[in-house]
Amino acid sequence: MRPNKILMCPPDYFEVNYTGNEFMKGNLNNVDKHQAVKQWNDLKIVYENLKFNVEVIDPAEGLVDMVFTANQSLPFLDKSGRKKVILSKMRNLQRKDEVKYFKSFYEKLEYEIIQLPDEIEYFESEGDCVIDYERNILFGGYGYRTQKIVYDFIAECVNYKIVSFNLINPVLYHLDTCFSVLNQDTVVIAESAFDGSGKETIASYFKNIIVADEDENLNYFVCNCHCPDGKNVIVQRGSKKFSEDIKKHGFNLIEVETGEFMKSGGSVFCMKLMFY
Ligand code: ARG
Repeated sequence: MRPNKILMCPPDYFEVNYTGNEFMKGNLNNVDKHQAVKQWNDLKIVYENLKFNVEVIDPAEGLVDMVFTANQSLPFLDKSGRKKVILSKMRNLQRKDEVKYFKSFYEKLEYEIIQLPDEIEYFESEGDCVIDYERNILFGGYGYRTQKIVYDFIAECVNYKIVSFNLINPVLYHLDTCFSVLNQDTVVIAESAFDGSGKETIASYFKNIIVADEDENLNYFVCNCHCPDGKNVIVQRGSKKFSEDIKKHGFNLIEVETGEFMKSGGSVFCMKLMFY
């Protein structure tokens, strides 16, 4: 079942003040706060117009990346429909404190909270987990922000089949920077992120594979697009090939501006979390 709620965190304290990924390197202390607030509000309105229920978690001072709500938690329904959530262990020190705020958020909603065992050191939830809600498959990336072993643990908790990928392009550090499921037949990928076996796996799961132009992906984060309903594709404005491909495949394109957040290595998919 597709979730109908979207969780976002306002960018009150959003900044690029450390280098956690390649995109952040050229953008230290270069965020236009005013623009960031406008872009975030506009994205929120897009989800509201699509009739999603957008909830907001309070931002915490000093946690500059908390706005990327895809990364701190993996909410799901178990076999009997009970709400549960696995909490992340962020790889970078600058983000570790974000998780406790999400824990409190879920406690209020009476989710069952699942903590990762000690032997797992890092896992960044829906940065690396992309879910096909039609087929109940969780596609999981590992290598940079998430450890491979986490998927053995997750498999015991969730009601999804798990298909995992070794990510091999350090620039595309999360699965959601190189892979987006539009519907059960269609996926967008950046080929450079996957090894031969990953590409074979993708081909075995999807009839339609939209291969992003690598430069368009770096400039417009097209693989970080989000299709929340199998019909509408929300993406950073400006791509040519990608926007044509999307329309050719029968999707409705919704272009937004996320330029301030791209300076930190994230766009649409990272700025929201779907939950129940
Ligand atoms: N600056 C953030 C980081 O490096 C960006 C996270 C973007 N999120 C994502 N799901 N790709 O952690």
